[in-house]
Amino acid sequence: MTSTPDINLLHELEPVAAANLNRHLDLATEWMPHEYVPWSQGRDFDTLPWDPEQSRLSDVAQIAFEVNLLTEDNLPSYHREIATIFGRDSAWGAWVHRWTAEEGRHSIVMRDYLMVTRGVDPVGLERGRMHQMQKGFDSGDKTPLRTIAYVSFQELATRISHRNTGRFTQDPIAEKLLTRVAADENLHMIFYRNLVSAALEITPSETVQAIAEELMTFQMPGTGIENFETKAKRIAKAGIYNLRNHHDDVVTPLLRHWRFFELTGLDAPAEQARENVGHYLTALDGLARRYEEKYAAAGQDTLAATSA
Ligand SMILES: [Fe+2]
Ligand SMILES: [Fe+2]
Repeated sequence: MTSTPDINLLHELEPVAAANLNRHLDLATEWMPHEYVPWSQGRDFDTLPWDPEQSRLSDVAQIAFEVNLLTEDNLPSYHREIATIFGRDSAWGAWVHRWTAEEGRHSIVMRDYLMVTRGVDPVGLERGRMHQMQKGFDSGDKTPLRTIAYVSFQELATRISHRNTGRFTQDPIAEKLLTRVAADENLHMIFYRNLVSAALEITPSETVQAIAEELMTFQMPGTGIENFETKAKRIAKAGIYNLRNHHDDVVTPLLRHWRFFELTGLDAPAEQARENVGHYLTALDGLARRYEEKYAAAGQDTLAATSA
């Protein structure tokens, strides 16, 4: 795909971006990160050094919270990516800046909570942040079309991950805070999802291929976090975010919303891409089931079990 059609596409989608930015601004209620943090619980670390015993969070809740926060911390890199791809002008630019400002709240509120409540090791967290941010995030040279498909999946995945982490902590303050963050992610997802819907009308075959490519190569933005694989496995076993969540709560609702399998008039490469997605989903569902059986056999303490 050359860059010219994509620049034209961004231009064509600009009124849709404008309408969805306005829709977003109407729906996004202002909230104050400082109001979600139990400040009176805070103590100076020089008089009372951090000790693992002080955390009210289980090991897995700490891992999930930290992974979610470190993912949010990489915002400068994400901003660079989308500002480069969408530009800084018109409704696209306005969206890029608004989105960045909203995302900034997420790491503020999550870090403040963890510091005040001593939820995780502050030194480990800071070193993790330095590692993650120095590595940066590079989505490769994605086209705008692939980008809107990717961020639709990513925002919804992040929503599910925050929401389930909140529930898993079994701390009402953490749950309230992460539910608030998850609500933001949902609105971000809706913005991008609607842009993909509009792209499907303008250029259906190209958009189907972009969705297929992003779906079948999807990776969470936090993959650069130190020991991400090990942490992701713990998070998956706990049912906070695993293949079942990915299949049922992220991929399936988006494809259904886009009527992905009902679209007609596609060209041959798009039909092929759609067929590949069908096989991919069957395999993903099968793998998710195998892991569920494995976790059940191991008697894993899962989100479903703790919140039943
Ligand atoms: Fe976020
Ligand atoms: Fe978001």
